[in-house]
Amino acid sequence: MNHRMSLFDMMMVKDNHIDGAGSIALAVGRARAQHPDLPIEVEVRDLDELRQALAIEPPLDRILLDNMDLDTMRKAVSITAGRVPLEASGNVTRARVKAIAETGVDFISAGALTHSVKALDLSMKIQPVDKVAETDPVTRIREVKAALGDRLVILGHHYQRDDVIAFADYRGDSLELSRRAAQTDAEFIVFCGVHFMAEVAAILAKPGQRVLIPDIEAGCFLAETASAHLVAEAWDALDTALRAEGSSADAEITPITYVNSDAELKAFCGQHNGTVCTSGNADKVLKWALGQRPRVFFFPDQHLGRNTANKLDIPPEEMLLWNLHRPPSAEAVHTAKVILWPGACNVHQRFRPEHIHAIRARYPGIRVIVHPECKAEVVNLADDAGSTAHIFKQIEAAPAGTQWAIGTEHHFVQRLQTEHPEQLILSLSDVPPFCANMSQITIDNLAEIMDALAHGELHNEVTVEPETAKWAKIALERMLSL
Ligand code: 13P
Ligand code: SF4
Repeated sequence: MNHRMSLFDMMMVKDNHIDGAGSIALAVGRARAQHPDLPIEVEVRDLDELRQALAIEPPLDRILLDNMDLDTMRKAVSITAGRVPLEASGNVTRARVKAIAETGVDFISAGALTHSVKALDLSMKIQPVDKVAETDPVTRIREVKAALGDRLVILGHHYQRDDVIAFADYRGDSLELSRRAAQTDAEFIVFCGVHFMAEVAAILAKPGQRVLIPDIEAGCFLAETASAHLVAEAWDALDTALRAEGSSADAEITPITYVNSDAELKAFCGQHNGTVCTSGNADKVLKWALGQRPRVFFFPDQHLGRNTANKLDIPPEEMLLWNLHRPPSAEAVHTAKVILWPGACNVHQRFRPEHIHAIRARYPGIRVIVHPECKAEVVNLADDAGSTAHIFKQIEAAPAGTQWAIGTEHHFVQRLQTEHPEQLILSLSDVPPFCANMSQITIDNLAEIMDALAHGELHNEVTVEPETAKWAKIALERMLSL
């Protein structure tokens, strides 16, 4: 289990920070002054430092026991007495891990998982031309598409590779594609996108329709930052805080899940009178939700939630960033109008305000347009923000000679460059980010599932357990009716 998803969601105070600041207390004080909402973990080298770390108020979120022997770790566990979770680190090998666990520490981390990984022996073979002709995926996809005719529809998200999107009957953003999925009568829906998108199609499918994805492992980093179990735990904590005042979570909070989430989270929203949103309708959905109940619990993307709340002029003091390690006080829950899950997309988080300053200095007058999964400081500086369909429409409608810096996934930006040579289109970042999950769909795995279909076999069918699908459908239909 990851104790944080990336470098943005927790602070780690290490030996060099402590030596640089002068003491543990000073290093923690400085870190907390800069990022009061972020959880903090402190590395300690001996039991004396452990005692200093334990004396800090409010208590730390975690203490890392660095390179200690088993006996010292046992003493650390006894001194700490459960006040702060302890993590053992340093020289952790497979052979030692059981003995370390038996000392009673709460977590163990192992750098060996990455720095000592055994290299995978890979080789690449070039296929002779005569063999390519036999197995050419492009030809095979065309053949099966023609043979199945109206029985098949291929949906493609804007972030797909060019050679894959070329086969899409419909391309669009996640909102457009979920509408298409709900409308089509085709027997087979092949979804070229990530798993949660295919899951939405499966939930909205009519009886007898089958949904397939070329790679069943094509997940979404952002969707994985929230699990049904952790969200339910947070909901219970919110309920306890509100019950102290004679109310309850169901009476006061509308849950909204961004469509980039597992079906279980959509079902959770269905069961608790909530709904789903996409980046194309988040403001409409948030307005609706605040008309139902005084508060909203928005997951998993904190940035889309914050950017949408900013658009509706909700002040920052009425937004509460959920802390997985330290649930907020009842008072903080009472002041919050929008409670944000601490999730984020690793592609969109890479755009920074410096990119906007640099590109404007180089191209005065350039229009900066970004996806609302970018951080608020980026969205606030940009000229415009919106879903991939919104970005697409702005570029399509712009007069020739317009200059654009686009802050979103790079396959999409590259396609816009190719399709609009009359405009100057650049990535906002000097190192344009690709979505590795979206790139898992290739013409080869598309051809494989199409070939199987032609033989009457369903490969990589996406299904959702019926009870989950029932509630998730309620939440999705509520969104589609808004
Ligand atoms: P859209 O809703 O804009 O298609 O975005 C989906 C997504 O995954 C963006 O990263
Ligand atoms: Fe998920 Fe981000 Fe990829 Fe969109 S770009 S699919 S949010 S990981």
